[in-house]
Amino acid sequence: MLVSNTIQILVGDSRQLLQRIQSGTVQCCISSPPYWGLRNYHHPDQIGAESSPEEYVANLVAVFRGVHRLLREDGTLWLNVGDGYARNGGTGRSGPNALVGNTKKLIQQRNCKVPTCWGLKDRDLMGLPWRLVFALQEDGWLLRSRITWIKKAPMPESVKNRPSNATEEIFLLAKNPSYYYDNQAVREKTGANLKNYWLLGPDASGAPHPAVFPRELARRCVLLGSRPGDVILDPFSGSGTTGVVAAEANRKAILVELNPAYAEQSRLRINRDRQLTMIS
Ligand SMILES: C[S@@+](CC[C@H](N)C(=O)[O-])C[C@H]1O[C@@H](n2cnc3c(N)ncnc32)[C@H](O)[C@@H]1O
Repeated sequence: MLVSNTIQILVGDSRQLLQRIQSGTVQCCISSPPYWGLRNYHHPDQIGAESSPEEYVANLVAVFRGVHRLLREDGTLWLNVGDGYARNGGTGRSGPNALVGNTKKLIQQRNCKVPTCWGLKDRDLMGLPWRLVFALQEDGWLLRSRITWIKKAPMPESVKNRPSNATEEIFLLAKNPSYYYDNQAVREKTGANLKNYWLLGPDASGAPHPAVFPRELARRCVLLGSRPGDVILDPFSGSGTTGVVAAEANRKAILVELNPAYAEQSRLRINRDRQLTMIS
């Protein structure tokens, strides 16, 4: 699916489609993969619906091994991934079968059981972002930064025995120690070097996708990690936020999305944004 000469959307499973792209053509990969057991993206091949979190980590390591091949030698990967709790199943309007927003949690559609790995117990925070990033480190990636995304409008949680979650991780990984990073592209308001906590609110994107990340998150990664004209990749592109931002910043983009309905929505969104930019 070609949106323009500069933005391409590939519809299908990243594990296969990344193999069709030429090695060493991508400068920067910016992506938020599905979180384990959270949302249902309505496709039998979706990542995130594995029966164990170990399998989930292994699947993502395989996808990002494909990304590693596509990156230029000075390329980077910016990875946003969320955590979750190990739970034993239940029913009812609260507890593990509750509705979160208007999206039914994947783990709640089966009678979920605490995964039998990592010594997990009922109600244990799984530490998935770190488990994934440690697995990526073992697979050859260089881990350079952990950025904390502080959410201006986090999802409310009715918990009384711990603080509510209001942050997520964004990891900066590189293929090699000497990677492209434009430290002048995004600075603190004072002019100081950008810090590793980003206070960001959700956009009113209007995208009918349940897990859109803020444009400002993608914008910072694009500007820090690439030059005008470079190719940006998002192997889990959802509503196409990475593509929208790449086009605005005069970068090219390759987006991969499994669900054809989301791919079509992102095509319309990117076209609409490009037209608005041309008018204004
Ligand atoms: C967290 S969302 C990404 C949202 C995106 N950052 C945005 O701003 O819209 C993850 C996306 O990955 C897609 N996905 C799941 N498994 C996939 C796979 N095997 N290959 C490609 N895409 C997949 C889902 O359909 C979902 O749209």
